[in-house]
Amino acid sequence: MKAAQTTDLSSIDNYALVELPAPQPGEGEVRIKVAACGVGYVDALVALGRYQVKPSLPHVPGAEIGGLVDALGPGVTGFAIGERVLAQAHGAFAEYAIASGRAVRRIPDRMSMSQAAGFRVNYGTALHGLRDRAVLKAEETLVVIGAAGGVGLAAVQIGRLLGAKVIGVASTEQKRAAVEQAGAGVTLDRAVEGWRDRLKAAAPSGIDVVFDPVSGALLQPAFRSLGWRGRYLVVGFAGGEIPALPVNLPLLKGAAVIGVDYRQFSAVFEAEAAASDLEELLAWVAKGELDVPVGRTFPFGEYREALKYALSGDGTGKTILVVDPSLG
Ligand SMILES: NC(=O)c1ccc[n+]([C@@H]2O[C@H](COP(=O)([O-])OP(=O)(O)OC[C@H]3O[C@@H](n4cnc5c(N)ncnc54)[C@H](OP(=O)(O)O)[C@@H]3O)[C@@H](O)[C@H]2O)c1
Repeated sequence: MKAAQTTDLSSIDNYALVELPAPQPGEGEVRIKVAACGVGYVDALVALGRYQVKPSLPHVPGAEIGGLVDALGPGVTGFAIGERVLAQAHGAFAEYAIASGRAVRRIPDRMSMSQAAGFRVNYGTALHGLRDRAVLKAEETLVVIGAAGGVGLAAVQIGRLLGAKVIGVASTEQKRAAVEQAGAGVTLDRAVEGWRDRLKAAAPSGIDVVFDPVSGALLQPAFRSLGWRGRYLVVGFAGGEIPALPVNLPLLKGAAVIGVDYRQFSAVFEAEAAASDLEELLAWVAKGELDVPVGRTFPFGEYREALKYALSGDGTGKTILVVDPSLG
């Protein structure tokens, strides 16, 4: 099979297509014929060895896929060959990938392979962050920073589904149009000067929850704009820095700073809760209540461009590498 691989993480340009034997599923594992692979900001950081978890070498990027069940390892039951699934895999910039049977889910007929490939982490993070950690209630006001990005757009949609009034922050008009289409009632730019005044005009009675995957220059202005018992979700650092927050601010607001880490939630500490969330999210898709936008798609041969684009922050929604377009 073809796979995009490198032994040198110093540049995306070091990745090359190589011929590898198709991987064999071990005990409890499923081999999946990859249709599409999600390419998030984190995948690009991992591909460059710049993420907190360093990959082993040689490295084949790609972790989230939509595809078809191709072979079952010993002990796996409940799946049929050829079933349409999404999965958390490894080495998925390839024609075949291996996933633990526990990380494979059948997908609704109406969900495309590209939608499936960008689903689990972004929507799982949004639901865990907003409902479980922030306890967001209907009619509360939610501000999503980086709202046009992969996890940001998911947070806008989930916030809306939970009945909140959503304000989305994004840097360009084109991004703000996508954020409005995803369900934000109001959008704002991210120019710091006068931002709090523009926010106040948009939400005169204050804001309850902030979902922030950027942690950039808006962190302090957004925190200072929270109302009493506000909740600030620290989701990521797409801004490239880890800023400080004076600890008097949470005290003055009776507010909470809450860390959200879907990887540890789903894979280490609360796998059952994460699995139940995923079932619920897929049920919303099946009922047509959640329509997953697909970001820019790249054909398999353009895996380097896909990684560079995912790192740029220019996209709307999740970037997708289409490995086999014939699979839907
Ligand atoms: N905690 C978790 O479990 C979890 C789960 C998923 C993702 N994340 C984190 O969330 C962050 C966003 O991930 P994503 O996949 O949604 O990324 P993305 O699609 O690239 O979106 C990031 C957004 O951040 C904004 N941004 C502001 N400054 C930026 C900069 N210097 N470089 C790049 N983007 C910048 C951009 O929007 P504007 O230009 O419109 O501001 C962009 O739309 C990452 O740090 C990722 O690690 C965390």
